[in-house]
Amino acid sequence: MTDKLILELERRTGLPDDLRFLAEKYPRDEWQAHANIHGMANMWLQRHDMFRELGGILTGAISDYREGRTTAPGFAKFFAPRLNFFLGNLDGHHNVEDQHYFPVFARAEPRLKRGFEILDLDHHTIHDGLERNAETANAFLEALKQDADKQRFAADDYADANTRLVAMLDRHLADEEDLIIPLILERGDRGLGIG
Ligand SMILES: [Fe+2]
Ligand SMILES: [Fe+2]
Repeated sequence: MTDKLILELERRTGLPDDLRFLAEKYPRDEWQAHANIHGMANMWLQRHDMFRELGGILTGAISDYREGRTTAPGFAKFFAPRLNFFLGNLDGHHNVEDQHYFPVFARAEPRLKRGFEILDLDHHTIHDGLERNAETANAFLEALKQDADKQRFAADDYADANTRLVAMLDRHLADEEDLIIPLILERGDRGLGIG
């Protein structure tokens, strides 16, 4: 397998070793005890937790519907605004990272530059996943007006797209945190010019 394939978001199991030197120095379970966690680092983590939570809510909503715990109209009413919120906020979050933060971080620590390139590439992969998610979600919402078979197929399509998206997102969020949070702890918001 080539390096590029190993780094592909859906196959990756974590950051490559050569990008983990700060992550080794600042293990995840010690982050909250560090003084520099207060500020951007925790804002970042909270934002990511919101995306994780929303991803879980969307996944839960579709299983509730498929297992007969909600009606079609009840599901659609709950689901559509949350999906729109999720998709819109995620897109906005990625844009700020690509255009503002990643270039600042890569300049501050050139040894991690390739890591930010990987994350930037992830955003494109996730963007494609978001589009698939939105398409299958809309098809499903549309199918709610049709017969049970159409609804079931559309629900399966959406559930597949959603499962892939949530898995990609989980991987991306964890790797991004392993790259960024240790760097913020090492330099501080002021040192990086983001505070
Ligand atoms: Fe990101
Ligand atoms: Fe992020």
